[in-house]
Amino acid sequence: MTTEPQSRIFVPLDTPDLGHALGIVKTLRGHVGGVKIGKEFFTALGPEGVRRIMIEDMPLFLDLKFHDIPNTVAGAVRASICLGPAIINVHAAGGRAMMAAAAEAARDEAEKLGLKKPLVLGVTVLTSLDQSDLADIGVSGSTEEQVVRLARLAEASGLDGVVCSGAEIEPLRAALGPDFKLLTPGIRPEWAAAGDQKRILTPGEAVRRGADFLVIGRAITDADDPRDAALRIGAEIADAA
Ligand code: C5P
Repeated sequence: MTTEPQSRIFVPLDTPDLGHALGIVKTLRGHVGGVKIGKEFFTALGPEGVRRIMIEDMPLFLDLKFHDIPNTVAGAVRASICLGPAIINVHAAGGRAMMAAAAEAARDEAEKLGLKKPLVLGVTVLTSLDQSDLADIGVSGSTEEQVVRLARLAEASGLDGVVCSGAEIEPLRAALGPDFKLLTPGIRPEWAAAGDQKRILTPGEAVRRGADFLVIGRAITDADDPRDAALRIGAEIADAA
């Protein structure tokens, strides 16, 4: 990852079409920090598809949100390391032993392969869930309390940080200190359409609040000039940092 302000930006490749994904990568290489590959791309195109993207030499956030028994998650983490991701993630709701197994597997396998260990992040509460959804699954208390509880557990289990919504950046920064990594989606510059995102932050505001990494999709990929959009967002981040 470069040290440019744009290096904080990860652009999702949410497509089952390798040609389309490669087009985005070629356009944005050197202009953003990396790309995010999630379940849609991975299920359609598999590790071979990921390798095709990695040939382009873009840092990878492998957003597969593992959640299973510790042994299985450790195996999945091990299997993902050879793809060379910069960031991977697991569900914090999988619990302490599962997260600790993920962290250890990432460390071990990276060392074995002579690769840099990826950041291992926890997913706390999906932003698609509101208070009543949490009550339905037996979680009392506020969403923020649950997010902070799971983030503390993630840190105690050896994870490097969490994925969080813009609304949660400040309470998490306050609770977990400056070194815990916070990665935030739901970002729109003022000049981009909000799309289906409801609670959005601008890139500058997210960085001011304490986000380390931003997932930014359509504001860049749907722009008339995606490189220019990334550059403008980078300038906004630089001003805010
Ligand atoms: O910036 P844009 O809304 O286009 O980014 C969409 C990407 O961010 C998708 O990959 C989506 O999974 C991810 N995401 C999100 N909102 C969340 C969590 C993740 O849009 N709350």
